[in-house]
Amino acid sequence: MNIVETSVAARIYNVSMTPNGLTLPLPDGSKTYFNNHWLRDNCPSSFDATTRERSFDIFHLPKPPEPAMAWIEGDSLVIDWAGEDHRSTYPLSLLAQYKDGTPRPDPAAKPRRAWYSDHYKDMARFSQPNLMRNDAEVVQWIEALLVDGVAIVGDMPDCDAGLTELAERIGQIRPTFFGSYFDVKTHINPTNTAYTAAALELHTDTPAEDHAPGIQFLHCRANSVEGGRNLFGDGVAVANDFRTRDPEGFKLLSEVAVPFYCEHDSYDMRSRQRVIELDADGAVEGVTISQHMLDLIDLPQALLDDYYPAFCRFGRMLQEERYVMRFTLNAGECIVFDNHRIVHGRAAYTASSGDRYLRGCYTDRAEMRSTYRALVSEGRFKA
Ligand SMILES: [Fe+2]
Repeated sequence: MNIVETSVAARIYNVSMTPNGLTLPLPDGSKTYFNNHWLRDNCPSSFDATTRERSFDIFHLPKPPEPAMAWIEGDSLVIDWAGEDHRSTYPLSLLAQYKDGTPRPDPAAKPRRAWYSDHYKDMARFSQPNLMRNDAEVVQWIEALLVDGVAIVGDMPDCDAGLTELAERIGQIRPTFFGSYFDVKTHINPTNTAYTAAALELHTDTPAEDHAPGIQFLHCRANSVEGGRNLFGDGVAVANDFRTRDPEGFKLLSEVAVPFYCEHDSYDMRSRQRVIELDADGAVEGVTISQHMLDLIDLPQALLDDYYPAFCRFGRMLQEERYVMRFTLNAGECIVFDNHRIVHGRAAYTASSGDRYLRGCYTDRAEMRSTYRALVSEGRFKA
C-alpha cells in the first residue's frame, strides 16, 4: 500500500454510504444518519454571507445528490459530490445539532405563567423613556409579555407619537379593518360597543380577522370619569383550570371552530376560530372570545346541545372573581398585552362625569419574538 492509498483509506474510515444518505460518528460517540438532500442543501456555502439567505437552489440539480466520497477530517465532515465540481465541509458541531430532529432551540419560547385576580401588584412595569433608550429594558418587557402576557408602561408622553414609538420598539404597527390606531371614547354614532359608555364584557379584540392581532397597546390619555374600571383576565389560567374541571367542555372549545363577524356599512369581516387555542404541544396558548362579535353559530343544532352549555360554563368561569384583575388605568399609562391570551373589558362609566380617552394599536407576536431573539441570541449568522 502506498502513501496515497493509506491516506484515502483513513479518510473514508467510519463514514458509510447508503443510497439516500450516509452514517458517520459524531464526537459524542453516536453513529448518526444524514440524508443526502439535507446535506447538499445545507452545505455552508449554500448561504450568502451578505443576505444571510440560502442562495443554493436544490431544485436545479439534474439528479438526486450523491456523495462520490465522504470522510471525517479533524472536526469536520467533508463530501465531494458526484457529478458536480463541489466540495462541502461541515463542522461536526453543526451536524450534532440536527442529528435527531430536535427543533432548533428558540430563546423566545418562554414558559407561560398563569396569573389570577391578585396580579396587579406583581404586574411588570416599565417606563416609556427608559424603553426608548435601553435595549436591556426592552428584553425584560418582552419577557413579561411572553411569560405573563401583560405589562404596564408608565411615563407615557401625552401625544400620539409616544404610543407609536413605544409599539415600534417591538414590531410594526399592525392595522386592522378599523385602521392603524383606534380611539376609545364615547362616539355620537358608535360602530362598536367600545365606543359607548356601556360595560364591556371580557373579550379578545377583532376575532373576525383571519388572524387577530397579537399584541395590543392601550394608552390612557385621560381618565377622570366615574366608573369604567379596567378588567383583565388570563385566558391561560382560566382555560387550564377549565381543562381540569370540565374535560369534555374543554375538548369542544379547543376543537370546534365557531364563526365571528364584524359588519357595518363598508366592511363585512368573518372568520372561524376556536375559543381555546392550543399550541403545537397541546398546551393552552390562549383564547379567542367576544360576545359582541360572535356570529350566529352555523353548526349542526344537535352539536350545539353540547357546545353551548360548555361555552356558557367557560364564559361564566372567565368572569369568576378569582380570575378578574380590576384596577383603574391612569392617564400616562399604557397597558400592553397578548390579544390571543389576555381577555379585557371595562365596567360601565358615566360619560358626563369627566374625560375618558384611550388610544390603541396593535403589533404582532411573531415580530415581538423576532425582536427578542435579535436582542438576546446569536442566531446562525452573527459573528
Ligand atoms: Fe377590546
